[in-house]
Amino acid sequence: LSQIEIKLGDIPEGKNMTFKWRGKPLFVRHRTEKEIATEAGVNIAELRDPQHDKDRVINPSWVIVLGVCTHLGCVPIANAGDYGGYYCPCHGSHYDASGRIRKGPAPLNLEVPFYEFPDEGTVIVG
Ligand code: FES
Repeated sequence: LSQIEIKLGDIPEGKNMTFKWRGKPLFVRHRTEKEIATEAGVNIAELRDPQHDKDRVINPSWVIVLGVCTHLGCVPIANAGDYGGYYCPCHGSHYDASGRIRKGPAPLNLEVPFYEFPDEGTVIVG
């Protein structure tokens, strides 16, 4: 299937859930207020792949990214690593709670796929 529909009510605040989409892991993360504030405040001049958090999300409560490390394609672990977002155990890449690369060998941020919210409780990816 080229699109996936996800019910957001099933994902509690602070949790990341993994879905399968087009043969790849897809992360849907329900951020806390603290995570939203932290990521909004990051100085993008410090980033390897400079992107504002607001350019990576539609609704700040929800981060939707491919669960594919941009180094060599392993699946990162959620809520882990030095920046609390994702940690890739293969070679030690640390991503923040916006999916941006912060430390380790990965060159790019986790990819944001096309998605939209048809209503408050639903996201359609693809
Ligand atoms: Fe993730 Fe190498 S594949 S750090």
